[in-house]
Amino acid sequence: MSQLKWWQEVVFYQIYPRSFADGNGDGIGDFRGMIEKLDYLRDLGIGAIWLSPHYPSPMDDCGYDISDYTAVAPEYGTLEDFKAFLAGAHLRGMRVILDLVLNHTSDEHPWFLESRSSRDNPKRDWYIWLDPAPDGGAPNNWNSTFDGSAWEFDETTGQYYYHFFFKQQPDLNWRNPQVKQAMFDAARFWLDLGVDGFRLDAIGTIFEHPDMPNHPVNMTLAELRRRFHTCQTAEERAELGKTWEKMFKFQVEQLGMHELMQELRAVLDEYDGDRMLVGENDDIAYHGSGDNELHMVFNFPLMRTDRLSPDWIRANQRDRLAALGAISPESWPCNTLGNHDCPRLFTSFCDGLPKDALARLHLALMLTLRGTPFLYNGEEIGMTDLILEDIGQFRDTLGTWVYHAEIEELGVPQKEALEHAARLTRDKNRTPMQWQNAPNGGFSPEGVETWLPVNPDYASCVNVADQESNPASMLNFYRRMLHFRQQMPALIRGDYTPLHEDSSDYFAFLRRCNEQTCLVILNLSEKAHLLAFDLPGQHKTAKCVFRSSTVGIGEDILSSIPIQPYEVYIAEIQ
Ligand code: NOJ
Ligand code: CA
Repeated sequence: MSQLKWWQEVVFYQIYPRSFADGNGDGIGDFRGMIEKLDYLRDLGIGAIWLSPHYPSPMDDCGYDISDYTAVAPEYGTLEDFKAFLAGAHLRGMRVILDLVLNHTSDEHPWFLESRSSRDNPKRDWYIWLDPAPDGGAPNNWNSTFDGSAWEFDETTGQYYYHFFFKQQPDLNWRNPQVKQAMFDAARFWLDLGVDGFRLDAIGTIFEHPDMPNHPVNMTLAELRRRFHTCQTAEERAELGKTWEKMFKFQVEQLGMHELMQELRAVLDEYDGDRMLVGENDDIAYHGSGDNELHMVFNFPLMRTDRLSPDWIRANQRDRLAALGAISPESWPCNTLGNHDCPRLFTSFCDGLPKDALARLHLALMLTLRGTPFLYNGEEIGMTDLILEDIGQFRDTLGTWVYHAEIEELGVPQKEALEHAARLTRDKNRTPMQWQNAPNGGFSPEGVETWLPVNPDYASCVNVADQESNPASMLNFYRRMLHFRQQMPALIRGDYTPLHEDSSDYFAFLRRCNEQTCLVILNLSEKAHLLAFDLPGQHKTAKCVFRSSTVGIGEDILSSIPIQPYEVYIAEIQ
C-alpha cells in the first residue's frame, strides 16, 4: 500500500462546541474553553478534531441551522478566536475538520430572507418553492423527517417552501448553479484559513426527485414515531424501517449527488495538505470510482444493533470490507459508535451487562478495526445519557416537537409523551462535559445555569479530574490505548483476517502489515477462555503487548492463550 495520508492514521474526536468547555463562564461552551483544552486532547492521544457547527445560528437545530456560513457564533467567540483554536491545534499536531451543512440553511439566513421576500426576488430559486395543491394544501404528501409535513406555507407570497428537516431549515435548491457557487465559496473561506477538511452533513438529502411525486404511503410522522416507540420486536422495527424508506423514497439519494461530490472534491484538491471529506452517510458509493468523491463515509451499519456481539461485528466487517474492496483496494473504512445524534456509547449496547468492561472493549474495537475511528466527546470518561424530566429543559426541537405532537395530534397522556420525548431528544447525549467534581461538573462556575443541565453523575467520578488521578479509570484506559495504537503499525495500516469465526463469545482477528502482525482478541463474554491459534507459517509465540485485565504482560504460546472475561488482549505474533 502506498504511503498513508494523515486522516488514515489519526483518531478523530468530535467536539460539540456548546457542551465541550465554557471559557467565559456563561453556561455555553466556546472557543476560549476549547483552546484551554487542547493540551488535554493532545495528551489523550487525539490526532484530529471534528468540530460540530460553530457558525451563527438561531439554534432551532442546535447549530445545524446556519445563518452565516463564513462567521463564528458570537456566543462561541470571534473569528480571531477560531483562528487561535486552529493554530493551537495545528501547533500540537492535531488536524481540524469543520461541519459543512449543504442541504439547508436557517430560515434566518439572508439568502432565505431574500428568497421569501417576493416571487421575483433574484434568490427566489435558491430554495424550493411550489404552489399549493388545487385544494390549497401542501403540494404533495412528503414529510419532513423532524416535524410533520415537509411543506411550510408562506403567507407573503402564497407558496410553500420545502424542508427535509425542521421548518426553520429550508432546503436549498442545489439545481441552481448560484447555490453551488455560494456554498463552494463558503468552503473555500475556511480552507483558505487552513482547516483540514469537512464532515458533510446529511448529504443524502441534497437533491429531491425533480417531478416531486407523492409517496405511496400516507402516514403522518407523528404516527410513524409513535409506532417506533411501541415496537416490541426487531422484526416490527425492521418493518417500520421499510415504511420509513417508502415515506421518504423521493426525498433522499436522488440523481446528481455523485457529480456534486466530485465537484466539491475538486475544490478540496485545489489545496495542499491532503484536505479531506467524510460524509454523514453510510453509502460506500460516495467513495466514487475509488478516489474522486469522499475520502470516507461512516460505517453506521455497525451501530445499528442493541448489542455488539462477535457475530454481528464479524458480519459487518465481512460485508463492509468486501464492498469497499470492490470499489478500490485503497478505499478506506471509517468506524464510529457514537455522535451527537444518538444515545451515548456508555448507555447503549450494554443492556444488563457490565458497562465499564464493555465500554473498554468498544473502544478497543474502534482502535483495532481496519479504518479511521471517530470518538465523541465525553465517552472517554464514560458519560451517560441524561433523561430530562421537565419539558422546559429541552433544547432539541425534536424532543419538544414529539412531546407536543403526541399530546395534540395523537392524544397521548402528558406523562407518557414526556417519557417518549425524553428518550428521543438528542439533548440527553449532548449535556455539558464533566471536568471536575465541582458545581456544574466544573463546566461552568457555580450558580451559572448551563445551556443543558449537567449530568449529576459528575459527583460519582464521571469527571476528568477524578479520573486523571485514578490509574484504573476509563479516561486512563482511553489514554493508554490511544497512545498504544500510535505505536502499532499493524493496527493502523494492517489488513484484517477474522479467526475462530464460530465463537459467539469473543471476536479474534489478525491485523498484518509488512512490519508487524498483531493478534487481537476481544472477549465480549463473561467466560474465561484458553484459546489455541494455528496460524500459517512458523509462528509459535504471541508477545502480549496490551491487555485490559490486571494479568501481567508477557510471552504466550499460540496454542494456549488464557483470556479473562471481558478482556482486551493484543499480541505481536512472532
Ligand atoms: C445531521 C446532524 O448530525 C443532525 O444533528 C442534524 O439535526 C441534521 N443533520 C440536520 O442538519
Ligand atoms: Ca461560554
